[in-house]
Amino acid sequence: MTAANGIRLVLFGPPGAGKGTQAQLLKESLGIEHVSSGDLFRHHLSNGTELGELARGYMSRGELVPDEVTIGMVIDRIGGIADSAGFMLDGFPRNTAQAQALETALLERGQRLDRVVHIQVENGELIRRLSNRYICRVCQRPYARDADTGAPPKKCADCPDGGDIYQREDDTEGAVVNRLSVYHQETAPVLEFYRQRGLLADVSGEQTIDAVHHSVLRILNVSELGAVSKS
Ligand code: AP5
Ligand code: MG
Ligand code: ZN
Repeated sequence: MTAANGIRLVLFGPPGAGKGTQAQLLKESLGIEHVSSGDLFRHHLSNGTELGELARGYMSRGELVPDEVTIGMVIDRIGGIADSAGFMLDGFPRNTAQAQALETALLERGQRLDRVVHIQVENGELIRRLSNRYICRVCQRPYARDADTGAPPKKCADCPDGGDIYQREDDTEGAVVNRLSVYHQETAPVLEFYRQRGLLADVSGEQTIDAVHHSVLRILNVSELGAVSKS
C-alpha cells in the first residue's frame, strides 16, 4: 500500500460527464492536484493573456484548441507538481497525439499513469446537464440549477468571498452539439490507447454524484481514509 496522494490518474469522459464534479470530490478524498485543461484555458481567457485570446474562438465553437499550445500548457502545469505528489487530469488528453505526448513527458520523469477512469453518460443526459450547468468564476466549481426553483446558486459555496456564478459561453446549444461530435470523433479513440495499456476502467456516470464518487474510489482501490493500492 502506498499513500493515496501519490496516485496519477486521468478523468476521461464526454462534455458534461461529471469530470469537474468528481475532481472536486476526489481532491477532498485524496488530496491530489486537479489539472483541468479547460479551467487553465478559462483562466487565461479571464486574464486576457495571448494564449487565452488564441483559445477563445476554438472554445466558443466547441473545437479543440491546437495541440501546439495545449500540450505545452498542460505538461508545464504537471511539471510544477512535486514528483511525489499525485494528480488527476481532467479534459486532457483529448486526442492520441496528446496521449502520446503525456506518456513521453511522464516517462522522462520516470513516471506513468496509474489509472484512466472513463465516466460514461449518454448524449441526451449530457445535453440536459450542460444546459443546466453553471460554474464559479473564481474556482470554476460546477453547479446545477436547483431542481425545485430552477435557479442557479448566486454565489460559490467554496470560495471565501462567494465567487460569482455564471454560464459558460460554450454551453450554448450549437457549441454543445459540436463538442459532443468532436468528442466522439477525436477524443473517444484515446480510450483504445489506454485500453491497450491496461489502464482503462469504466464507470457509469448516470448514478447520483455520490454514487459515482464511491464507484471511482472502488476502482482506485481507495478506502474512505485515503489509502490506495497501486498493485
Ligand atoms: P472542458 O472545460 O474540458 O469542457 P468539457 O470536456 O466539454 O467538459 P465539461 O467541463 O463541460 O464537463 P464535465 O465533465 O467537467 O462536467 P461537470 O462536472 O461540469 O473544455 C472546454 C473547451 O476547452 C473544449 O471544448 C476545448 O475548446 C478546450 N480544451 C480543453 N481541453 C482541451 C484539450 N485537451 N485539447 C484541446 N482543447 C481543449 O458536470 C456537468 C453538469 O452536470 C454540472 O451541472 C453538474 O452539477 C452535473 N452533474 C455532474 N455529475 C452529475 C450526476 N452524476 N448526476 C447529475 N448531474 C450531474
Ligand atoms: Mg469540466
Ligand atoms: Zn468558487
